[in-house]
Amino acid sequence: MQGCHTEAILTWKLAHLHFQVLVVTVCATLIILICLCTTRSEGLYTQCYKNLHSKTSQPQVPHLTKSKKHHCTLTLDKMMECFLQQSVDAEEKFYKYKEQRLHIEEKCREAEHTREMQMLQMLGQMLNGLSSTSQMTAPSHSSPSHKANLRNHPDSLHLNPSTFSPPIVLERPFSLRPTRPAKDMDNIFQLVRNVIPPLTSKKHKGQDGKIGIIGGCKEYTGAPYFAAITALKVGADLSHVFCTKDAATVIKSYSPELIVHPVLDHPNAVSEVDKWLPRLHTLVIGPGMGREDAILDNAKGIIEKAKSKGLPIVIDADGLWLIAQQPAIIQGYQRAVLTPNFMEFSRLYEALLSEPVETSDQHGSVLRLSQAMGNITIIQKGERDLISDGDKVLVCSHEGSSRRCGGQGDLLAGSLGVLLHWALLAGHEKINAQNPFLVAAFGACSLTRQCNHQAFQKCGRSMTTSDMISEVGTAFNKLFET
Ligand SMILES: *[C@@H]1O[C@H](CO)[C@@H](O)[C@H](O)[C@H]1NC(C)=O
Repeated sequence: MQGCHTEAILTWKLAHLHFQVLVVTVCATLIILICLCTTRSEGLYTQCYKNLHSKTSQPQVPHLTKSKKHHCTLTLDKMMECFLQQSVDAEEKFYKYKEQRLHIEEKCREAEHTREMQMLQMLGQMLNGLSSTSQMTAPSHSSPSHKANLRNHPDSLHLNPSTFSPPIVLERPFSLRPTRPAKDMDNIFQLVRNVIPPLTSKKHKGQDGKIGIIGGCKEYTGAPYFAAITALKVGADLSHVFCTKDAATVIKSYSPELIVHPVLDHPNAVSEVDKWLPRLHTLVIGPGMGREDAILDNAKGIIEKAKSKGLPIVIDADGLWLIAQQPAIIQGYQRAVLTPNFMEFSRLYEALLSEPVETSDQHGSVLRLSQAMGNITIIQKGERDLISDGDKVLVCSHEGSSRRCGGQGDLLAGSLGVLLHWALLAGHEKINAQNPFLVAAFGACSLTRQCNHQAFQKCGRSMTTSDMISEVGTAFNKLFET
């Protein structure tokens, strides 16, 4: 509720500011015009005065040139008449401009009114969204007896708001805006920009992020590579890939920039990875991991170790398969982000809420799953990405393209790994006391969409994940470093 209001008020203020600037411009133009008019009449006055002077001095200087004679023939009356005529003209002009000004002002008022109406409409739509979401949320919150209570005593709604707290729904179709201070959550882009560490020569290697990817097996080597290389391109210093023995050489050969550990199918996989955890900032678990039991067991052990160290964890792809089987592994660990696509989301939702996803209420579904997971941040990837931390629902509908390619999720997971580290490092002030997981999630979603958009512009239908990864640098600059 508060968020919506703040947003509305802020946008209104902005509109108001635009209006004020416009009025000031109009006034300034008018003043200049009036000055010009006055100067012209003054010029005339001087001329008249000169003529008058020459006329009065005529008797003393009887022999003048022809042109001067012409001037001298003007009578005082004629000059006065000319003067008056000019001042009447000036006055007329003045009123004409004044009328124009009033006309412009009226247009401004009209424009402002239209804007206000649009704002109100938007607010109405938001409120509708809110009430529909809370309608969907209410049953999961309150027991039947409590619902009966509410029906009998409508006042209890006010007395006990905790049982009926509507979620905050922020719709933010993204636009490139000039930098301005971040207020509330209303300019999440500014918050993302705020957490990006500056490029200075003083830092030592590794300060901007060391990311670990858990995944990569004989069948799938692309996904962990995409996630790891994206992390590097976004700005991480080091990307480690922990994969099976079969996959290691293959992944290594894709890129000399990655550090590849062939340990995931090792009997001591958990302790092998555990050795590295103190040197990592974020773990991304799942890309190309496969669903072999032994590997899933190892992944589970690694998650436990990472949790005990408070490491931020991104869980994607086959990692989400594991979570759907055993939600307790990650439930309640609020330093985790799950990034399910719609299929993976449905699986998780059914596992946790024992009912099919309510497709008519996607916001509510994402919110409920997040709450059921103990307020873990969830990104439901799709045509629009929905992000929730159990309290707010953010929508990232930044323009991508209609073409989605297989590795897009890996790109999201990899960039999220880096942004999470930055958002957590930045501290409360830079993100305006908002949830750093939401800020990072929103940043990663919009970056992925921007990459998709740019790659599609260049390649069209032939676009692949590699094309998207080539765009990471420019997309990042365009979004966050303008
Ligand atoms: C999750 O967030 C909601 C909304 O802020 C809150 O009411 C609830 O207590 C939280 N649950 C947990 C487990 O933190």
